[in-house]
Amino acid sequence: MTCCLPFIFYAFLMTFLSPVMSITDSQSVIQAERICKPGPPLKASLGKMNCLVIGDSISIGYTPWVAKMLGDGYQVQHAPWDQRDGGALDSKYGLQCLRIFLQTVMLEPTKYDVIIFNFGMHDINYGGCWPEEYVEPVDYAENLNAITSILLSTGANVGYVLTTPVPYNVTLNNRAKQYNGIAGHVMKEYPTVVTADLYTWVIEVCGDPPYVSCIIADKQPSPHYTAQGYQYLSERIKDLILDLTQDIDENPPSWKRRESSRWIASKYLVPCSDKYGKVVTVCPYNTTCCDDLFSYTGQGCCLTPEAVPCGDGKHCCPAGFECDPGCSKYKCSCREMR
Ligand SMILES: *[C@@H]1O[C@H](CO)[C@@H](O)[C@H](O)[C@H]1NC(C)=O
Ligand SMILES: *[C@@H]1O[C@H](CO)[C@@H](O)[C@H](O)[C@H]1NC(C)=O
Repeated sequence: MTCCLPFIFYAFLMTFLSPVMSITDSQSVIQAERICKPGPPLKASLGKMNCLVIGDSISIGYTPWVAKMLGDGYQVQHAPWDQRDGGALDSKYGLQCLRIFLQTVMLEPTKYDVIIFNFGMHDINYGGCWPEEYVEPVDYAENLNAITSILLSTGANVGYVLTTPVPYNVTLNNRAKQYNGIAGHVMKEYPTVVTADLYTWVIEVCGDPPYVSCIIADKQPSPHYTAQGYQYLSERIKDLILDLTQDIDENPPSWKRRESSRWIASKYLVPCSDKYGKVVTVCPYNTTCCDDLFSYTGQGCCLTPEAVPCGDGKHCCPAGFECDPGCSKYKCSCREMR
């Protein structure tokens, strides 16, 4: 894909200049932070299996189908609450925002019976457009390790979903396969984590990349699927969730029998309002509400106090910095103010 050549050039530049580059002696420049989109809308439903799906646009695509197939006994939600963009993006962003994804949009503590997750498509920079999403293999392994530990520490049964193919570019698809290998290796260290091979599930229908069309795939070049395609993916994901809930009926976790307490007193939380003044999202203590173009509520959290939103709906700068005027959803940097 050639849609974003300037940004590839930018990535090349950043390789030499980041994380801190000096324009002049008096000003330092850092990469802007990405605003965290909020967690899902609903608290745990006591009569149901509570399932959370963490992942990118592909999991956003299959989650409604999974919910439909599993039916009334299951509450299936996606984190973050984003129905327009790449969801949990890359593993670096996922790790940064995980504590927000694991609570509701109002930051109510909630518990999941099952959490399934995937990172990879954005880590490999699947379109060449998003250099800030690219994660080196060694960091990918480290991030997945950290994320898996945190998810298991919630008490949920955890499943991992391998990344789907990149139909239009063999180099990128090989990178996806390499990252799936790394993920498989990481998950071996967690014997209770069940892995679903969604990569193979797709090539059983589409064949090995490259392909210019496939009955379940969106018009190429794209990593996305048709509605029928997402329905097909959800069959595999539904089986993963059934696998992970198998033993839960017999041993209901003890949290189901007691109220969980807030992790932080509510007066310290940061309420975010929409343009009508209605609180639509709550951010953690010591963070800042920011307009977020990709959040379902239009609000997200910048993880530093008194942060400066960059106006691109995606980035923010810490207090004492100003956003570069050239900030866009693709890239953004912050200049220290003197
Ligand atoms: C495939 O992706 C790689 C890595 O982004 C890129 O260098 C290459 O030009 C792409 N190939 C084609 C045919 O688009
Ligand atoms: C609040 O955020 C600042 C800057 O990120 C940090 O230095 C400080 O320790 C935080 N305070 C608390 C109580 O978390």
